[in-house]
Amino acid sequence: MTPSDGHDDRTGTNGHTRLNQRYWDEEAAASHGPLARGHWSRTEPAWGLWSTPESELSLLPDDLAGKRVVELGCGTAYVSAWLARAGARPVGVDLSERQLATARALQEEFGLDFPLLLADAERVPCPDGTFDLAVSEYGASLWCDPRRWIPEAARLLAPGGRLVFMRYSPLFALCASPEGRASTTLRRPQFGMGRLEWGKRVEFVLPHGEMIRVLRDAGFTVEDLIEIRAPHPAPRDYHEVSAEWARDWPCEEVWKARLGG
Ligand SMILES: C[S@@+](CC[C@H](N)C(=O)[O-])C[C@H]1O[C@@H](n2cnc3c(N)ncnc32)[C@H](O)[C@@H]1O
Repeated sequence: MTPSDGHDDRTGTNGHTRLNQRYWDEEAAASHGPLARGHWSRTEPAWGLWSTPESELSLLPDDLAGKRVVELGCGTAYVSAWLARAGARPVGVDLSERQLATARALQEEFGLDFPLLLADAERVPCPDGTFDLAVSEYGASLWCDPRRWIPEAARLLAPGGRLVFMRYSPLFALCASPEGRASTTLRRPQFGMGRLEWGKRVEFVLPHGEMIRVLRDAGFTVEDLIEIRAPHPAPRDYHEVSAEWARDWPCEEVWKARLGG
């Protein structure tokens, strides 16, 4: 784990961006794609590893009709699809051509059409104040540097705009083994944690205090932090975390913030 920067002034890109783009295009998109149809098919949004229904979590604003939404790191864009069905006007942003190709194929299959932009969520080619809601489910929220993507989300939002994002928890990151599996031992220091290097990919998990400061510095007011508990019984375990672990400790969490006071 090293301090988070890695910005390349010659190209204007970040080391983690290039690495993660390659990881998604060359490795992860192929296995992620086949899972997407199930998500696209859902009539009610369901979030994260445990598919917790929207009716339990209330992550999304009630009044979605007509709202302009940007999904940062949309991947296969099923969250944007749910939002489009609820009457919102989503734009999906992702830096993986292969992920967006899957999203386009699913748009065609499900008869939904919304813009998909091939772009870095830390530098989105849209004017200031374009959107009412920015959302990220394990997209920019995990794969981008919070000190870059959160100010960018603030720039993209109109005053009073909402930000909702899901990521895995700092506690999970503290307890994760080198293979990325939750243990019951603290495996790394919390002070200095931020950028997590996992071989061919880089993720970011800021501890709560720093995350609050990053959000506040970008002009957001934090409205909620929801720590998600695995259901009992849970349908399955994951390589990263067992349902038993996630019954006792939160492995994933959702932040809700509003731009302005
Ligand atoms: C686990 S997927 C999450 C997206 C969506 N919820 C899904 O599951 O399809 C992570 C996505 O983040 C994208 N991503 C990673 N770094 C990014 C960046 N700098 N800008 C935009 N997208 C990025 C990847 O290409 C990938 O599609």
